[in-house]
Amino acid sequence: MLDQFKIITVTHKRINLKDIGNFVIKPQEGQSLQEQLEEVKAAFGFTEFMYVATCNRVMYFFLADYTLDKEFTTRFFDYINPQLAPQWKAQIEDICFSYEGIHALRHLFNVSASIDSLVIGERQILGQLREAYEQCKSWKLTGDNIRLAMDKAVVAAKSVYSNTQIGDKPVSVVSLATQKLLNANVKKDARILVVGAGQTNQLMAKFLAKHQFNQVSVFNRTVEKAAQVAGLVEGNAYSLQDLYSYEEGFDCLVVCTAVKEPIITKKLYEQLLQGETTRKVIIDLAIPHNVEEAILKEYPVQYIEIEGLRSLAQDNLSARENEVVNAQAILEKYLEEFPILYKQRKLELAMRQVPTEIKAVKVKAINEVFRKEVEELDDQTQELIERMMAYMEKKCIGIPMKAARETFLEIQ
Ligand SMILES: NC(=O)c1ccc[n+]([C@@H]2O[C@H](COP(=O)([O-])OP(=O)(O)OC[C@H]3O[C@@H](n4cnc5c(N)ncnc54)[C@H](OP(=O)(O)O)[C@@H]3O)[C@@H](O)[C@H]2O)c1
Repeated sequence: MLDQFKIITVTHKRINLKDIGNFVIKPQEGQSLQEQLEEVKAAFGFTEFMYVATCNRVMYFFLADYTLDKEFTTRFFDYINPQLAPQWKAQIEDICFSYEGIHALRHLFNVSASIDSLVIGERQILGQLREAYEQCKSWKLTGDNIRLAMDKAVVAAKSVYSNTQIGDKPVSVVSLATQKLLNANVKKDARILVVGAGQTNQLMAKFLAKHQFNQVSVFNRTVEKAAQVAGLVEGNAYSLQDLYSYEEGFDCLVVCTAVKEPIITKKLYEQLLQGETTRKVIIDLAIPHNVEEAILKEYPVQYIEIEGLRSLAQDNLSARENEVVNAQAILEKYLEEFPILYKQRKLELAMRQVPTEIKAVKVKAINEVFRKEVEELDDQTQELIERMMAYMEKKCIGIPMKAARETFLEIQ
């Protein structure tokens, strides 16, 4: 009954993230993603189709009669990427996960609840799945079956997020660093200097903005990137050189560049202090560290560095992994309900035809089968017959609906 639900997916579990790109739908000049997906759907005769691509996975969710064997998977990815290297084709069964029926639904539920994620408990995946669904739905690629599966997956995932601690403890060093900053009671108007404008500090700036820190200055070798990062937190942007002549003082220093030696030397630090002697908070997320060790010994600082945060992140990740069993138990409950829901929906859809068909019988009886006899009747009798037929029509519609509902409840 659920056999038509299929998923083929390639994820971080069996392949390096950078190689997942071999299995996604690549942009083609002059063709939109919608057109490409429509072509795939038609080429393989999928009755419904949903496509999800994130940095950790690509997922093809569809309804079809195929058996997902090696022959099909190879043919499918040959179509998706005609340049797929022979080395990937040779390993296709070891790389792809293929799921059918209830197993496909279980996989969808697991993904939604983030227990299949690289970072277990990261809720972002649920948003990505919903977005992909909404897009495919608006392109009329999906239908009632995928809608039903997605609705249930979202409800199940939300239940996991609110009834387990799967996503509670932060596992990214940047969110942990922000948490430490908040724990250190750094005020919202603290003067925060951010040194470096790479990926890490970009994320850091987003967290600073989220927690409404409002005096942020960003310094970077490339000043355009400093401006981008400063823009995230309504801060000021400077070149790295400006740091050496900066005279505004600071309360907190966030340093993270790819430079391999301490960029914040004791001499520069003294200059930045501008004679202030209060305790400062330093967050150093670089490897190797960007802050000279002598500073930590000679000045009052609270030093938050990446190794400590990494080990905290690892502990939190282990705590999340321990929650997977509880999450699975919740998902199984929702999964058990799915076949009943599915049958109910099928019945509802079949029953939708009943009123139209009964009406058609009535119209045919009056206008075709008994037309001659009806025409011979006087106006009053004709009107009576029409009223009787309308009454019959109304009553007849209810009978099969009631019987179907009762039978359905009995067989549960
Ligand atoms: N990505 C992560 O997940 C992660 C997590 C924690 C810690 N880290 C560590 O954080 C550090 C930076 O990582 P990232 O991912 O943020 O790097 P990224 O995106 O590659 O950015 C590198 C940053 O370092 C600057 N930089 C590079 N070489 C420089 C030089 N010679 N002089 C001055 N500035 C220079 C770059 O300035 P320009 O913009 O001018 O190029 C940029 O601001 C590394 O030590 C990394 O190990 C990374």
